[in-house]
Amino acid sequence: MRLLFVLFFFCWGCACGSESYRAAVVDVKEFEPITHNKYTWLIYEAAKANVDLLVLPSPRVISDANKESCANGEGNFDEVVTAVSAAAQSAQMYVVAPLYERVTCQDKVELVSSNLVFDRTGALIAVHRKASNNFTKCNTTSSTVGRFTTDFGVTFGIVVEEDLILASPQDIAGIENFVVTDNTLSKKSFLFAKQFESSFAFVNKVNVISSSGEITGERTPPLIIAKLRKNGSDHSTLLANPPRSFPSEDLSQYVSKPLNVEASLRGYSDSVCHGTFCCQFYVKSSSIGTNPQDISYGLMAFDGIHQSGSTNIGVQACSLVACAGLYKRSCFIGSKNTTADIKFSQVSINANFSKENSAQFPTVLTTAQTIFNSGNLKFSIVNKEQKSVTSEIYNTENILTFGIVGRDYSKDFNDVRNNTKGYILDFSEYISSENVQEFFDYVWIRLRVLIFIVSVYILEMM
Ligand SMILES: *[C@@H]1O[C@H](CO)[C@@H](O)[C@H](O)[C@H]1NC(C)=O
Ligand SMILES: *[C@@H]1O[C@H](CO)[C@@H](O)[C@H](O)[C@H]1NC(C)=O
Ligand SMILES: *[C@@H]1O[C@H](CO)[C@@H](O)[C@H](O)[C@H]1NC(C)=O
Ligand SMILES: *[C@@H]1O[C@H](CO)[C@@H](O)[C@H](O)[C@H]1NC(C)=O
Ligand SMILES: *[C@@H]1O[C@H](CO)[C@@H](O)[C@H](O)[C@H]1NC(C)=O
Ligand SMILES: *[C@@H]1O[C@H](CO)[C@@H](O)[C@H](O)[C@H]1NC(C)=O
Repeated sequence: MRLLFVLFFFCWGCACGSESYRAAVVDVKEFEPITHNKYTWLIYEAAKANVDLLVLPSPRVISDANKESCANGEGNFDEVVTAVSAAAQSAQMYVVAPLYERVTCQDKVELVSSNLVFDRTGALIAVHRKASNNFTKCNTTSSTVGRFTTDFGVTFGIVVEEDLILASPQDIAGIENFVVTDNTLSKKSFLFAKQFESSFAFVNKVNVISSSGEITGERTPPLIIAKLRKNGSDHSTLLANPPRSFPSEDLSQYVSKPLNVEASLRGYSDSVCHGTFCCQFYVKSSSIGTNPQDISYGLMAFDGIHQSGSTNIGVQACSLVACAGLYKRSCFIGSKNTTADIKFSQVSINANFSKENSAQFPTVLTTAQTIFNSGNLKFSIVNKEQKSVTSEIYNTENILTFGIVGRDYSKDFNDVRNNTKGYILDFSEYISSENVQEFFDYVWIRLRVLIFIVSVYILEMM
């Protein structure tokens, strides 16, 4: 009986000779909250479906006040590790377990995110750690992307979601399969981070297996199971999901122009520049609904430094953004209401980027799940004197943001003390002639008041 099982396992269970392998993630949207005491059950469920690699969900933190005590549910780290290891061994499956671990660094106890990888024998084959606060004394992991190799001949990169945006082309060279875990403790609001996984997979033509359950595959509750090609993804689709909460990100550092929604019915071109970085937009809409004055979209450009935890990253971005209200330079990303009824027949965005040490990605955020493929999304990079990048969508609605996000890796720096410098640098780049005009208007108003006071004073003296 046991031999039969083993034979069965070799025929179906091992992806050794095959072109593909089976990966599973937990459908966290359907099955929250998942605590560590369900891990063994989840591993056995995955084994029933002949999964080669299961990525467990990241533990949810229940409240900030007692976050350390309940970070891994009610269990402690060692117990969870033992249980997962034993289950991985009896299921003969690779298991990635993102857990929180308390470590002592320089006499200080800190909580770090540890991604543990167990092989089919239950052995711990890789640990990728990341500090969960930005002022840590621990130097936990030397590289942004960890690696592990499996018996079916695939080398995986393992990375915390927010670090995916930091990973330079050198960091990911040669990796076609990624495990991405999220880190609820240090979740930073960052405009493009939410859907960055999908953009990253699309541009690099790689498989991304995400602990937050975002993978395209068959839903067999409690799991989502995908058959993935070992040498990366073959079909280029970009899955745009509505944000879990509508981001109320302040985009006041962006240079923006309002989109003339009515003119977009005829086709509308405009360009927006942030310093020397320019974005060229073409927007054509097929329908703008009955209350076009309620809709406001901004055309945005940004060239500067974004803070992401303790790391500061060089970002160049062009974006069409639905704004809840568009004032002179600030836009808060809108909600379902602000995108209502507008259908774009075409949006094209083009910009020139540096050839050296940079990467560009399309970004789309929608109010309803939308699949983009070659039929409704085109993304191209053409090398001229610079990289000319074009991102286009056709016949889409529900757009919250659409654009190009570019990473300029040469501008990244990782010293908290240099933060202020970064912002000052950024601010000086940001002053365009329009702002200078506004600044002088402001000074002049102040000056007039001052002159008035001084005059009154002088009159009184006389
Ligand atoms: C941190 O990293 C540096 C260099 O990588 C090493 O010399 C140092 O010992 C590490 N410190 C700790 C506390 O691990
Ligand atoms: C991936 O593997 C298939 C089948 O072996 C092969 O035809 C294809 O060329 C490979 N693709 C890449 C990008 O290596
Ligand atoms: C560090 O993180 C805290 C919140 O966790 C945040 O308030 C603070 O601004 C951050 N500081 C830096 C320098 O990133
Ligand atoms: C959207 O509009 C509906 C009615 O028009 C209103 O009740 C709701 O509060 C609005 N939602 C937001 C987020 O503005
Ligand atoms: C990109 O560079 C080319 C050639 O230098 C120029 O013609 C084009 O207008 C630039 N595009 C943008 C959006 O600035
Ligand atoms: C950050 O600041 C340190 C000194 O505080 C300096 O040596 C280093 O060059 C700075 N790094 C950058 C990228 O400006």
